Amino acid sequence: MSVPLPTIPADVAVTEPPATITDRLGRALHDLRVSVTDRCNFRCTYCMPREVFGPGYRFVPRADLLTFEEITRLARVFADLGARKIRLTGGEPLVRRDLPDLVRMLAGVPGIDDLAMTTNGSLLALHARALADAGLGRITVSLDSLDDAVFAQLNDVGMSVGRVVAGIEAAEAAGLGPIKIDAVVRRGVNEESIVPLALEGRRRGWIVRFIEYMDVGQTNGWRMEDVVPADEILDRIGRVLPFEPLSPAYPGEVATRFRYLDGDGELGIIASVTRPFCASCTRARLSAEGRLYLCLFGMRATDLRGPLRAGATDDDLRALVTGAWTRRTDRYSELRSDATVHLPRVEMSAIGG
Ligand code: GTP
Ligand code: 5AD
Ligand code: SF4
Ligand code: SF4
Repeated sequence: MSVPLPTIPADVAVTEPPATITDRLGRALHDLRVSVTDRCNFRCTYCMPREVFGPGYRFVPRADLLTFEEITRLARVFADLGARKIRLTGGEPLVRRDLPDLVRMLAGVPGIDDLAMTTNGSLLALHARALADAGLGRITVSLDSLDDAVFAQLNDVGMSVGRVVAGIEAAEAAGLGPIKIDAVVRRGVNEESIVPLALEGRRRGWIVRFIEYMDVGQTNGWRMEDVVPADEILDRIGRVLPFEPLSPAYPGEVATRFRYLDGDGELGIIASVTRPFCASCTRARLSAEGRLYLCLFGMRATDLRGPLRAGATDDDLRALVTGAWTRRTDRYSELRSDATVHLPRVEMSAIGG
């Protein structure tokens, strides 16, 4: 027996359910950043200094990592609440085995229209094709210098620039471009790498984004003197390659965008220290062991793995996330001061930037 479809009067607009939740500062939940592992094959001095992340460091035990099924279930919960973008991060996401399987599962989550990954690129040549086939939309690669000596000093594992560039080329060949490059700039370490990165990015069609060194985590010994301010970075580039501002590609974009004056090519600046962007921060962060952080500089988190494994329903999970997000007041970068630098906070490698 066929059931007649209900007729919808012509004057009633058919809309999606009003799913978006907002926090105490009126910010919607739009992005979910998923850390799939807290491990990494690099030891970048500003993120996982080897004196701390050495052989004795206790990474999250395997049994405590969210499974791909659990991540996907949570992704659906976030999508129900308004999330439209998922970014996979780490540590280094590609050290987690079978990552394309997770990508395939997330690509099927209704409501997610942007599925991206941030990687250090070292394993990308091996996996780019499988990731693209599984439905990954785009890739951001962290690369702080094109000079082998400087890069090796930064990654502290002797990784060569060539291997990362080969990964980027594989990603481009697999259709994951245009590639974004994230370069953290540190005073006295890689300032001289700024202009070469901008030039090479322009030549190859990469969107290079320079990031002010941030006081994330508690292990990198951050000092304000080590920050190269956005204005100085832009000034260095502008002397060689003049540019003009572009409007944001979407509301709440972290990077401020610019276009080179003499043709194509885009660059970006992520100035969380000198120009904080908390007012439009729509990002939730899920750690590899299923803790929900609402700020990169957070110390408190909401455990989702416990309830998930204790049999919580989707309604229960939605209520947990809604409760956390609607109470959210975080705006760390706007409040940064000498006094905040010493506050306890999560490590970058646990929530992936
Ligand atoms: P697109 O979607 O391509 O615009 O990138 P994205 O905004 O997701 O940026 P991405 O993940 O590449 O972020 C680049 C870097 O910006 C991160 O690795 C962090 O270092 C920094 N960043 C991103 N989000 C935040 C944030 O909410 N707060 C602060 N303080 N920094 C952030
Ligand atoms: N300051 C700014 N960016 C950082 N990243 C890691 N640690 C820091 C920091 N202290 C960046 C990495 C990578 C992304 C995941 O976060 O370079 O691009
Ligand atoms: Fe690894 Fe990225 Fe941290 Fe470097 S910045 S140690 S590549 S997670
Ligand atoms: Fe968002 Fe916290 Fe970064 Fe501000 S400091 S933009 S609230 S993650």
